[in-house]
Amino acid sequence: MRTQVCIIGAGPSGLLLGQLLAKAGIDAVILEARSADYVLSRIRAGVLETGLVELLERAGCSDRLKKEGLVHHGFCLAFDGRAQRINLSDLTGGRSVVVYGQTEVTRDLMDARAAIGTVTIYEAEDVTPHDFDGSRPRVSYRKDGITHEIECDFIAGCDGFHGVSRRSVAGAAIAQFERAYPFGWLGLLADVPPASEELIYAHHERGFALASMRSTTRSRYYIQVPLTNRVEDWSDDRFFDEFRRRLPEDVAERVVTGPSLEKSIAPLRSFVAEPLRFGKLFLAGDAAHIVPPTGAKGLNLAASDVHYLSSGLIEYYREGSAGGIDNYSSRALARIWKAERFSWWMTSMLHQFHEAGDFAARMQLAEFDYITSSTAAATTIAENYVGLPF
Ligand code: APR
Ligand code: PHB
Repeated sequence: MRTQVCIIGAGPSGLLLGQLLAKAGIDAVILEARSADYVLSRIRAGVLETGLVELLERAGCSDRLKKEGLVHHGFCLAFDGRAQRINLSDLTGGRSVVVYGQTEVTRDLMDARAAIGTVTIYEAEDVTPHDFDGSRPRVSYRKDGITHEIECDFIAGCDGFHGVSRRSVAGAAIAQFERAYPFGWLGLLADVPPASEELIYAHHERGFALASMRSTTRSRYYIQVPLTNRVEDWSDDRFFDEFRRRLPEDVAERVVTGPSLEKSIAPLRSFVAEPLRFGKLFLAGDAAHIVPPTGAKGLNLAASDVHYLSSGLIEYYREGSAGGIDNYSSRALARIWKAERFSWWMTSMLHQFHEAGDFAARMQLAEFDYITSSTAAATTIAENYVGLPF
């Protein structure tokens, strides 16, 4: 088989890239290691920047988002019981975010791709990029016991943090920057009405908590837990009791409990690979970077990578100019590092770092006091939260 762009990974990055290329008449095949159902089973964050909404519109996948997405004009920071609303729209000249689960974004992209009949090969085994530094880039894979090869002009590594693409690059050719955080997030999904109309990020001496949602009838809640904790240690009752203890009292009183639909612990990590291009191979999304979820940037950063990469590939095929793909890595990394900074800063301000000492704890309090007393400080948070320009 031959295609113009072979995309490895059918998560949000790969699917969005495939859809934008298809809209521009560029042929792309997606190879995905898991089944479509498995991809849809993964529960991820759900705050969309306006840039991602616009890309989904361009990809022809925004109808349900516009019907079901919740437009949020602000969110709350709570610090040991004190709450401070960050008025996103007032502070950013009217901008907002949309709350809409990543699973739904993925589903909409899958449906759109199926509707135009482009090729996605699920449960592809041993996907391996070859000769991306040479003149004959191709990707091999095994399906139903038979090995296949796809010849292509370019390979897009959209296969996430644990994918094969980044691992295929020679060690000396890639730099990796990483910080692992000494705690995780225990997340719970339940069909109960959210405790608050807007998201609440809560700093508390017992640990961080986040009250989020998927709709007006489905809530997504998180609490910071030690990395040694296991999901089995946390019954639903124990989760809700701890969750409530970390929220301002008036919010805690409104928490409705119910059986968990999903419960999982995720570690927190900051990670960036540099550069993002290796000959005919490009890295995008979680294959290139990871952010702690505190800033809700994971999906949105994947989207800006895809914006830069799709624009460069469209320019290449339409105008024969390699400028866009030559600049992809530096353009994407400029925005990646700013989102990494914001995510690291939000994580550092809101979580308990027991080994960091009293001075660090006072710095967290000072950050909160500064934000609540300075429009400039609040604007800094707001402009990053709604998304810096592409
Ligand atoms: N071959 C083929 N597919 C692979 C391989 C492989 N060797 N390794 C991983 N994959 C697939 C995974 O099964 C997954 O479906 O690549 C896809 C990568 O998707 P994500 O991990 O979701 O990464 P991305 O598409 O970049 O989306 C980033 O997802 O994980 C969240 O927080 C993250 O919101 C961010 C978003
Ligand atoms: C979520 O709803 O899953 C969510 C929202 C905001 C975040 C992280 C996760 O910062």
